[in-house]
Amino acid sequence: MINIVNNPEFWDDLYKDKLDRWDLKTPTPVFLELLNKEFFNQKSSILIAGCGKGYDAVEAAEFGLNVSAVDFSAEALESARKLALNKNAIINFLLEDIFSLSEKSETRYDYIYDYVTYCSFSPQRRYEYAKTIYSLLKENGRFVFILFPVEKRSAGPPFGVDEQETIKIFSEFLTLESADRNINSIKPRKGREILHIYRKDK
Ligand SMILES: C[S@@+](CC[C@H](N)C(=O)[O-])C[C@H]1O[C@@H](n2cnc3c(N)ncnc32)[C@H](O)[C@@H]1O
Repeated sequence: MINIVNNPEFWDDLYKDKLDRWDLKTPTPVFLELLNKEFFNQKSSILIAGCGKGYDAVEAAEFGLNVSAVDFSAEALESARKLALNKNAIINFLLEDIFSLSEKSETRYDYIYDYVTYCSFSPQRRYEYAKTIYSLLKENGRFVFILFPVEKRSAGPPFGVDEQETIKIFSEFLTLESADRNINSIKPRKGREILHIYRKDK
């Protein structure tokens, strides 16, 4: 049952039925802050993992990043493409399963960004995801990861994300550079999110 989340049709249906309650309808405040404080080097490449309707991807492109945005839901990408068109944002949209991206393409990224995507995967795939992120990053690349929801949950999506477990899994591949609990979350997500930045050493 839990594996249903591995199918794009599951996500397509949620989007079609307007059950996409995670959707902020606006860029993520924490991501905007990172852009504004010039955390990202302009003209670097970024992959938005599970981009949904594309708000953060568009902001990243407007900032001057070279943006690729992957999502395996055709519904989500259709909305994201429309938004990008309206905003004249140039984005390389990839209708793909992120778990197979590194085999399908040789492109590697300076940054990968994940918000509310990790918690949507079946929890059995977490180690595989860390390995996937490692494969998709360039050397010295950064994984910008907002952990959500950092609480125990008996079911999902979203599946609960335990910070210590996450550090253990990702540290097999990457180095944790910073962890910040004091971030600008929207009201219902206050105290339920942590910003982690990981670096790929080699
Ligand atoms: C909960 S939504 C979050 C979307 C977006 N990050 C946001 O914050 O609005 C999870 C997204 O990840 C996508 N997704 C889930 N598993 C995926 C996979 N294996 N490959 C690519 N996209 C995936 C879903 O289609 C969905 O758009």
